[in-house]
Amino acid sequence: MPSPARLRLAPSLLSADFGALGEAVLAAERGGADALHLDVMDGHFVPNLSFGPALVAAVRARTRLPLDVHLMIDDPLRYAEAFRRAGGDTLVFHVEARSDPTAAVRAVHDLGAHVGAAIRPDSPISLIEPLADRLDQILVMSVHPGFSGQKFIPEVLPKVTAARSLLAETNPGADVSIDGGITAETAVGAARAGANFFVCGNSVFAGGTVDANLRRLRAAVEEGARGAVR
Ligand code: DX5
Ligand code: ZN
Repeated sequence: MPSPARLRLAPSLLSADFGALGEAVLAAERGGADALHLDVMDGHFVPNLSFGPALVAAVRARTRLPLDVHLMIDDPLRYAEAFRRAGGDTLVFHVEARSDPTAAVRAVHDLGAHVGAAIRPDSPISLIEPLADRLDQILVMSVHPGFSGQKFIPEVLPKVTAARSLLAETNPGADVSIDGGITAETAVGAARAGANFFVCGNSVFAGGTVDANLRRLRAAVEEGARGAVR
């Protein structure tokens, strides 16, 4: 049987101190992060603004960790090339965005990047189904996109399990990512439901040390994965 995707932690820089971003990147790297998650917001698709390709490029210059670029923007197709040039390794677009999802998958692959498709908490997994065999990542949002530090929405867990089983036959190496409100408590259930890629903002950067926070999160996802739905 092909091996399922391995457990990975991706600190979200949205929760870091933007005045000391380079240090946050290095702390995440030293603490054993597997990737970094960068949240791009355009003030239209979500009610917040964050940053663009220049910041992704600045982070790229500081680390060799894979960069997971979460595009919470109306027209991801229009900006895919800019984020790829900036150094994004995985470009994640929302299936609810204006760009045609099939075209977005093709465009991102043509740019030589991995592609992820994200769904909001209130969108059905059926929006992902037609794309599943071509994706490198399915990202299930467990908060309403726009802000870090929100409370985890447990009602999305069945979608995590559905995403995992959607990939099981034809694309088992793809990641099932969960994003929003992930803590050492909520990560256990998410891993048990079938997630293997954990985006963590406030639980990494908003208190304590990055190192200890990552260690606690790692233990939680390993615990959850032992009882996981696969
Ligand atoms: C929310 C973003 C998340 C967020 C995660 O719209 O997509 O990546 O930064 O932050 P926490 O883990 O604090 O919910
Ligand atoms: Zn995100």
